[in-house]
Amino acid sequence: MKPTISLPTAAIDQAQRLIFETFQDQDLAWELGVFYLKVPDWLDLEEARRFGRSIFDYESPYRNVPKYGELEGFIALENNQQTKLALRRHRWDDHYPEEIAQFGRQLDDIGRAVIREVFRLSGIPEELWTDASGGYASGKGTAFLNFVHYDTSQPDLGLRPHTDYGFVTILDATSPGLQIELDGEFRDVPVLDGYLLINFGEALNFITQHSNRSVAAIVHRVTSQAASNPVRHGIVYFANPDLDGALKQFTAAGQEVGSSSVADLFEKLEKDLTTYE
Ligand SMILES: [Fe+2]
Repeated sequence: MKPTISLPTAAIDQAQRLIFETFQDQDLAWELGVFYLKVPDWLDLEEARRFGRSIFDYESPYRNVPKYGELEGFIALENNQQTKLALRRHRWDDHYPEEIAQFGRQLDDIGRAVIREVFRLSGIPEELWTDASGGYASGKGTAFLNFVHYDTSQPDLGLRPHTDYGFVTILDATSPGLQIELDGEFRDVPVLDGYLLINFGEALNFITQHSNRSVAAIVHRVTSQAASNPVRHGIVYFANPDLDGALKQFTAAGQEVGSSSVADLFEKLEKDLTTYE
């Protein structure tokens, strides 16, 4: 295993804009597809972490949140170490405590700030952002707010290598385990106190591909947790396009050069993922 790497850091300013310390930092973030974000003062991360830890207590009523399809509800996955409580935005108010639903909406703001900055640098004219993003830029699309827990009693890899499919992923992990692939090798991503980890997903890569600045979707995985570190809690937020929508590729001149239904894009990615293994 190569030594750990240092990733660029950014912050959200008063005007809700994503700001990097230097242009080089921003370049690196776009090129790698991952960076640290300083936890904004207005985000009550501790409260959300407490909630995340509490739901893995066997007495917790949140273990009874029903499953909605394969991806939502309280889920214990077979074949790996992960259990999670996962819900899409329209169910937050039904199942999460008020302050956690509110926390989710604050992550919406962070995700939007990141996506807007990606669009800004892409040069794609602002009046096309909504069309390019399947409506996300004007409030459509969805988001998942997931509380995840990795348990070492299962020996498998925590999470197999993959890229995220959506626009932006926001991660709060309090212990190590995440690795990203650089030059064909997996490297540890250290936990940086006071920072969230942000990565871009395939949908954002897709819509910026023919613009002035595209973003990468990085391959990452979560390693099996060591016995000395029995439990890894994480909060994961995904900003995603609607599954029944479409994404469009524009040049900075505003010319449409490609498009895909979200369903087709995700299906193609799923196929690639299977061959990757
Ligand atoms: Fe991921």
